[in-house]
Amino acid sequence: MTTCDTLGTESVSLEMLQRYDRAIPRYTSYPTAPEWRALDPDAYIGQLTKLRQDTQPLSLYLHIPFCKSMCLYCGCSVVLNRRPENEERYVQYLLREIDLTADQLGSNPQPVTQVAFGGGTPTKLTCEQLTRIMEKLRERFAFDALGEYSMEVDPRTVMEDSGAKLAHLKDLGFNRVSFGVQDTDPKVQDAVRRRQSYESSLETYERARAMGFEGINLDLIYGLPFQTPATFVDTIDKVAAMRPDRIALFSYAKVPWLKPHQKAIPDDTLPSTEDKFRIYLEARRRLLGEGYIALGMDHFALRNDPLAQAYLKGTLHRNFQGYTLALAQDLIGFGVTAIGDCRGAYIQNVKELNDYYASLDAGVLPARRGIVLDHEDQLRRWVIHRMMCQYYIDKSAFKERYKADFDTYFSVEQPAIQKAVSDGLLENSPTELRATPTGRLFVRNIAVIFDAYLQKQGGVGRFSKGV
Ligand SMILES: C[S@@+](CC[C@H](N)C(=O)[O-])C[C@H]1O[C@@H](n2cnc3c(N)ncnc32)[C@H](O)[C@@H]1O
Ligand code: SF4
Repeated sequence: MTTCDTLGTESVSLEMLQRYDRAIPRYTSYPTAPEWRALDPDAYIGQLTKLRQDTQPLSLYLHIPFCKSMCLYCGCSVVLNRRPENEERYVQYLLREIDLTADQLGSNPQPVTQVAFGGGTPTKLTCEQLTRIMEKLRERFAFDALGEYSMEVDPRTVMEDSGAKLAHLKDLGFNRVSFGVQDTDPKVQDAVRRRQSYESSLETYERARAMGFEGINLDLIYGLPFQTPATFVDTIDKVAAMRPDRIALFSYAKVPWLKPHQKAIPDDTLPSTEDKFRIYLEARRRLLGEGYIALGMDHFALRNDPLAQAYLKGTLHRNFQGYTLALAQDLIGFGVTAIGDCRGAYIQNVKELNDYYASLDAGVLPARRGIVLDHEDQLRRWVIHRMMCQYYIDKSAFKERYKADFDTYFSVEQPAIQKAVSDGLLENSPTELRATPTGRLFVRNIAVIFDAYLQKQGGVGRFSKGV
């Protein structure tokens, strides 16, 4: 057996690594997006109407798709734009969508405990535009004073004005910011067309700290061109030295059939599967050594951070933005491609700007795709998310919740579970199913065992690789 690396007492063979480096979902949702179908906007209104009847807290997500240039690795939903009038138009429609949605929720809105702006690059909007959006949200929803208000920030967009926009975010009530860094090595940055000096990332970070943002996250990606374990360690050391509260360490998701610009990254510049895994292991080892706690697959947080606390208490949640606090059960998405998770249904807005504008011009909410989860979906979602968030399934908790014996219910899955046990990924006892330290590194491969849709398709789907 060629041992690629060791972690604790477990070892990972190259054969196993290659076997598990297959195309599988990231399970930010279950059922995963390819299973969603066309959805009538009235079905969405039906879901929203259910929210009227209670006072459960709400989470809001606003998608701002614009970017000035395209980073070659990018897998996000992006609209390249250099004309300010396009952004102004978008903001006006976003305000309309907020009004139209809030109208469905009645006059006694639920408290909002979480607002996240993602993109694209939300900080490409002007201070005045961001103010208008926040004013509209506050007008139509009741913000909880202790809520989490976060924005994804491209450091390059807030360097230009010496911190004025960052300060403005603080004034608008944002208490968390997330900065895209990816890699500090100029050679990697050139290869992905994202030049962002380490000094500028550091300066942005220090400004945000000085302004008193309660939580700062930095995004990194491993598996990018020209990365090696040695070069990426330098990025990790620089980033860990800043002491951000959270670090997202994403595996490069290569999905060129969805994002054709990724084809501009030659395959032969990418690290091999083995090297990519080594880069991850070394990065993880150093972050743990620096006092970070590993949460799920790709997030790290300092022990006193609320996300780390949620992990330690077993209340970590997973949604489209990755691991989050479970501050609200329902999520409403605004903007093109935005996804909501509302009363047991996933709902996604149209993907094209023109369709988004046309729908709102007609006074119709732009939701067009989604799925209403049936009992089986909900049960499997619970299992998959428990495994992704906490690395184990408590079989008696399953029984209590779903009135079924775990092993009997998942009898079809037993051979796959046993295979994962013999590969050293899982420990299976009468009371729980638990990922081993090695299994944690392949947790998507464990989650996939419970994906009934992929089972029906013989395990074949178009997703990024699992390692
Ligand atoms: C919307 S962007 C962050 C905000 C801003 N646009 C920026 O780049 O600084 C969200 C994050 O997704 C991650 N990301 C984008 N494309 C990815 C891919 N193909 N694979 C893995 N992570 C990716 C990056 O780490 C990026 O910072
Ligand atoms: S990584 Fe950020 S800045 Fe780069 S294209 Fe994607 S969303 Fe835009």
